[in-house]
Amino acid sequence: MEEKFVNLSDYQKASKKNVTKMAYDYIRGGSIDELTLSRNTKAFRKILLKQNILVDVSSIDLRASVLGQELAKPLIIGAVSLHKLSHPDGEYATARAAENLNALMLLSSLSSTSLEDVATASSSPKWFQLYWNKDRTITRDIVERAEQAGYKAIALTVDAPVLGHREKDAYNQFTLPEDVFLENYRGMDQMKLPGVSGSNSGLAQYVADQIEDSITWKDLDWLQSLTNLPIIIKGLQTAEDAKRCVDYGVNGIIVSNHGGRQLDGSLSSIECLPRVVRAADGIDVMLDSGIRRGSDIVKAMALGAKAVLIGRPYIWGLGAKGQQGVEEVYNLLIKELEITMAMIGCPSLDQLDISFIEEHTIPNYP
Ligand SMILES: Cc1cc2nc3c(=O)[nH]c(=O)nc-3n(C[C@H](O)[C@H](O)[C@H](O)COP(=O)(O)O)c2cc1C
Repeated sequence: MEEKFVNLSDYQKASKKNVTKMAYDYIRGGSIDELTLSRNTKAFRKILLKQNILVDVSSIDLRASVLGQELAKPLIIGAVSLHKLSHPDGEYATARAAENLNALMLLSSLSSTSLEDVATASSSPKWFQLYWNKDRTITRDIVERAEQAGYKAIALTVDAPVLGHREKDAYNQFTLPEDVFLENYRGMDQMKLPGVSGSNSGLAQYVADQIEDSITWKDLDWLQSLTNLPIIIKGLQTAEDAKRCVDYGVNGIIVSNHGGRQLDGSLSSIECLPRVVRAADGIDVMLDSGIRRGSDIVKAMALGAKAVLIGRPYIWGLGAKGQQGVEEVYNLLIKELEITMAMIGCPSLDQLDISFIEEHTIPNYP
């Protein structure tokens, strides 16, 4: 019987058939007990939408704007490492999909295609996700390369001073297939994961060896001195940290818990969003972690996100059908977004606000 692709889990199932168990577990999994991973999706379900009737919704305006950049749709292709674990075309396929979709793409530092090759693969706008290397010359070079290649912002990931303990990866002794490399570090020791021994994951060891765990707010000065690009902080959850972003001249915030892959036992992203928006004092706030339906995009934007990012959803599309799968998953979420906007009687994202959420279901954490 022909396989039907109606919702996201159809792509997840197809991807599971196509990729190795090691890759599938790496992509799906969260850290420790996966409490935050499951909370991310459950919390969206607890937020309820309000319907307004007899509104002209014959045309729905889905344009958005973030950091002064116009987006055709408020959905950004988020930072996920190692696309070649899901499809041989890897980030090239994703970048081609982004161009066809006219979507913004945030490329991971740990990509399996170099940032330069991704930049030339498509003309759609791109941001670069930065892991701060212990060797500052490497950090500096990669930021300069990203700027030179035309990336429009640097998103510094701050929720991974160490890698979250992902038990499946430890059982699988996660490492890279022989033909997949961290291409941004070609020619350097950092291009491969270290060998694994015992119950370990090669990536956990890599992060321990390479990613700086001593940076603090004060170090942002140095990053800002390297580049004219806007700096986004990715992986922030509290009002206090949002205020620090204001103090340190950060340009954008991504409320995120890394898709439940880092600190386990924290709130979901959507639960953190209102307090961050309140404290961010005009800095553009985005959100990722747990977006699985178009209605989730509506909820996040009604609570103040300027745009949202997805990780696993499009990677399942990539694993299921390559570039076409990325496009299909993206369009599926956009279709659901459009339907939800029509149902709640909101013809434009500009008009979406907290009044579209049932008051008693608004997450309210100080
Ligand atoms: C397989 C995988 C790899 C990831 N790699 C990175 C990465 O290299 N850098 C980063 O900042 N975030 C990374 N993330 C986190 C995503 O950017 C994003 O925060 C998360 O996937 C959002 O949650 P979602 O998967 O529920 O959409 C990764 C996530 C997954 C699932």
